[in-house]
Amino acid sequence: MNKLNKLFIINFILIFCLVSCDKNQKNLRGTSINNSIEQKVDSVLNLMNLEEKIGQMVQYSAGWDLTGPASSKSAKEKVDRMKKGLVGSVLNVVSVKEVREAQKLVMENSRLKIPMIFAYDVIHGLKTIFPVPLAESASWDLDIIKKSAAIAAKESAASGLNWTFAPMVDVSRDARWGRIMEGVGEDPYLNSVIGVARIHGFQGDDLSDVNTIAACAKHFAGYGFAESGRDYNTVNIGEYELHNVILPPFKAAAEAGVATFMNSFNDIDGIPATGHEILQRDILKGDWNWKGFVVSDWGSIGEMKSHGYAKDKKHAAEIALNAGSDMDMESYAYESSLEKLLEEGKVSLEDINDAVKRILSLKFQLGLFDDPYKYCDEEKEKNDIYTKEHLAIARDAAKKSIVLLKNENNILPVSKNIKSIALIGPFADNKDQPLGNWRAKGTYNSAVSLLEGVKAKVGANTKVYYEKGIELTIPTVKPGNNQFLHPLEFNTENKEGIAKAVAVAKKSEIVFLAVGEDAYQTGEGRSQTKIGFAGLQNELIEAVYNVNKNIVLVLSTGRPMDISRVNNILPGILITWHLGSESGNGIADVLFGDYNPSGKLPVSFPRNVGQEPLFYNQKNTGRPYNPTHVTYSGYTDSKKSALYPFGFGLSYTAFSYDNLNVDRVETSKDGEIILSVDVKNTGTINGEEVVQLYIRDLVGSLVRPVKELKGFQKISLQAGETKKASFTIDKEVLQFYTINKKWEVESGDFYLFIGGDSSTKLKKKITIL
Ligand code: NOJ
Repeated sequence: MNKLNKLFIINFILIFCLVSCDKNQKNLRGTSINNSIEQKVDSVLNLMNLEEKIGQMVQYSAGWDLTGPASSKSAKEKVDRMKKGLVGSVLNVVSVKEVREAQKLVMENSRLKIPMIFAYDVIHGLKTIFPVPLAESASWDLDIIKKSAAIAAKESAASGLNWTFAPMVDVSRDARWGRIMEGVGEDPYLNSVIGVARIHGFQGDDLSDVNTIAACAKHFAGYGFAESGRDYNTVNIGEYELHNVILPPFKAAAEAGVATFMNSFNDIDGIPATGHEILQRDILKGDWNWKGFVVSDWGSIGEMKSHGYAKDKKHAAEIALNAGSDMDMESYAYESSLEKLLEEGKVSLEDINDAVKRILSLKFQLGLFDDPYKYCDEEKEKNDIYTKEHLAIARDAAKKSIVLLKNENNILPVSKNIKSIALIGPFADNKDQPLGNWRAKGTYNSAVSLLEGVKAKVGANTKVYYEKGIELTIPTVKPGNNQFLHPLEFNTENKEGIAKAVAVAKKSEIVFLAVGEDAYQTGEGRSQTKIGFAGLQNELIEAVYNVNKNIVLVLSTGRPMDISRVNNILPGILITWHLGSESGNGIADVLFGDYNPSGKLPVSFPRNVGQEPLFYNQKNTGRPYNPTHVTYSGYTDSKKSALYPFGFGLSYTAFSYDNLNVDRVETSKDGEIILSVDVKNTGTINGEEVVQLYIRDLVGSLVRPVKELKGFQKISLQAGETKKASFTIDKEVLQFYTINKKWEVESGDFYLFIGGDSSTKLKKKITIL
């Protein structure tokens, strides 16, 4: 037996014992070993040579479901490296069979047999598809959000996966930016609490549980502030905006124990996020003392060359590692350059070791060293995916995500005994569009369509007419595929269907007009300059309106759209986003009153695209807009306000807010004030209201926003019932990142606002001494 083989066997036995002899606390040498993951990691690290260490820092895409530019490395080369144990993780390999095969390459061939982690973009479900994240955020329901993430994790884990690239917690304020669908919208607080709910859902209480997977807070940082809403574009924000607006959701994610972070494609004020040492080393791993690992975004290390920040790939690897990027997704920069860079003294072994330790630590936490095939259970794959129970929760999530914007003359809910309904529009009988973008392994054409949902709801005496009216689907390369043909063009020629739609509208009591945006109009790389109705939708709406005014707009979209024109004329508007597998059922639950809508907008709906980026938590300026000075910080051709503000959403009942009280009007910086309010359901049916708390810090060492969301409670109220909602106003609520570069409370006056949306005027003044 040659030396190398001997070493291989000894090392294998050593690792095997380190991980499997925990229970009797002994390793090969008979010495007692500490159970702590840190020590196990150190022991494995000690066995690794430099090439193997660097290998752990490499992530390949190994499937066909490419989510970035096609890989320049051949499958054979990738397989060869896996066999040598030189790949830490792969993405886009999904299914027990494929994961097992890939893991075997490492386990049966490599020297140290360090299992790989399997990642995938499980953004809103694996096979059971939940509402897109922006939609689900409109539920303001942390419980259902956590549940849906837990189901996504369970289905993923049953498919061999153990790591998702979610949640995206980028504060996003520009409707033109296609990725707005993937996050929580415009508010830092809402992004924080929903991000944390998702992390808890994915990771559960224990990462070693076989039904949980590691989460990833992305994109660190600033990605949602891409200039002009163009994806991957430059971000120009100052230090204070970064700390007060962009970082809080990431800090919350770190504190919630998110296993990984992903950095970002954009540069911030000239420094690409991937090469941003202050962000990754000083703030994330330093100030926040976070122990997970940072994966680059797809090719983002190599892309620092295009940014004009790195001379070549080698230079990019140097910058990225020094800045704290631990794993290289698909740039091949670490594998090709780190060894040389170390020789040249441009990177340190300490940083390489630190990155590897972080990666190994997650592998231990997931239990992969105990059983590399832990997530490869064919039985679970058969039984745990797309179950009835999961679909029931998807339906719950769908109905809770719907936002009722307009309901003139109580056009909704509709009686199940109504005589006739015309269901019109390109999305009325569409079984694919509701799945939205980033639908993981969602089956093409598998959603419940609106037509199916409506038909299942009404009795035999109701006539349901359906006409598509116009075509609107994006021509994709192949059905269900995320790649579409550019430029985006919709049919504006074929108007034949409009006449048919008019005919059914004429003979129906009510029209449900299912319009909006196709699934692939939002998502990565789907930025648009127009956010109105594409193709022939306006013509269709007008033609139908001319013969029947009793219309409910059922708007499915992944972004806030410009709906000003229809808002002026149509009596009913329901935002139904892209709601996932159970879309049609969820919408029908709301249309027919089986569920009283409770969703609230997580993003402002603008009057027109020219207002973008539009968000409620803006600053006042020295010349604040007011109706007598419309030119002040406003527009001469449009109102400045949103058409529908952040936090807005109607119910079939109504709520009143009374007796707003504080238990004291002054306190110290460390003190507490209790704010309470009586919320009453003044209508005749039961409902839920999201009671929202906003603050305004009137004078600060830095200019503070006119309003900032600081808390909310979703409460159920029976008809006529009143409940008291109370909020504790303390340091957590009042502090901000001040001119002293610290989170602190400043003395002075604050307004505390309470209400059902961000335009509320109901307030109390308090003073911090
Ligand atoms: C690029 C996207 O920006 C990121 O969010 C995603 O997780 C990766 N591709 C992997 O697919």
